[in-house]
Amino acid sequence: MTTIADIDFGGLYREHARAVSRTGKPASAWDARAPEMQGRWRQSRYAEAFIARMDLDGAATLLDVGCGPGTICLPLASRLERVYGLDYSRAMLEALRSGAAERGLTNVGALHRAWEDDWSDVPVCDIVVASRSTNVPDMAAALAKLHARARRRVYLTHRVGDWPFDPGAIEALGRRLLPPPDYIYVVNILHDMGIHPRLDYIETEQRRAPAADFDELARRIAWSLGELTSDELARLRAWHERARPGAGETGGPMRWAFISWEKA
Ligand SMILES: C[S@@+](CC[C@H](N)C(=O)[O-])C[C@H]1O[C@@H](n2cnc3c(N)ncnc32)[C@H](O)[C@@H]1O
Repeated sequence: MTTIADIDFGGLYREHARAVSRTGKPASAWDARAPEMQGRWRQSRYAEAFIARMDLDGAATLLDVGCGPGTICLPLASRLERVYGLDYSRAMLEALRSGAAERGLTNVGALHRAWEDDWSDVPVCDIVVASRSTNVPDMAAALAKLHARARRRVYLTHRVGDWPFDPGAIEALGRRLLPPPDYIYVVNILHDMGIHPRLDYIETEQRRAPAADFDELARRIAWSLGELTSDELARLRAWHERARPGAGETGGPMRWAFISWEKA
């Protein structure tokens, strides 16, 4: 008889991620998004919701993995002795540094590192965070790294469910798409590691299909799915003209699973 204990969730995730092949963007792709993210995401309700769910009790240091412009670590820096933002995008780290300088913070460190790199000199911190940054080819390896760098607690968010686009738009493209691997892998891989995490959800104000503007929609889809062919673009445009997404709200809000655990 086969039971859930026979499933290698780490291996299953790797296979799923490979089949979807949306992981492994070069750092330059994120460099290009740094200015937009610095403005839009730094003081978001999402960050407030994330931080409201954290317990800083007894914590002096924090490591923010895939920190972007410092969405989580910057608002927390004044409550801690030292925070570190880790990211493989130099432009994101530049945005982190300038955000820290703007706020007069002198306790923010920037670590230029990828998930896949050697982390042996990354400081072990009381709290480790990975916010919307776990789109990795090997989740088991990533979770082991977060766990190893944490002294007290780990907090991460991972996407719930399907692609963040109107299903009509995907249908119009005519691609058969696997949904990307969602948070349930994270829960199961942690269980395999002997960790029993807490689970909560954050809904963002950002709608899944906010693109009233066609170029914006096409840009968002290409960011996630790779470049669109001219035929796909034509079909998407025809759908967009018919459906006029954004005229009425479509798609619903984005949902993130908020997953946390304590070090024993
Ligand atoms: C969606 S953004 C999230 C930024 C921030 N944590 C937040 O919640 O607003 C993903 C971040 O992960 C970083 N990232 C993506 N792949 C990475 C990798 N392989 N190694 C390190 N950082 C990576 C990107 O540069 C980007 O800053």
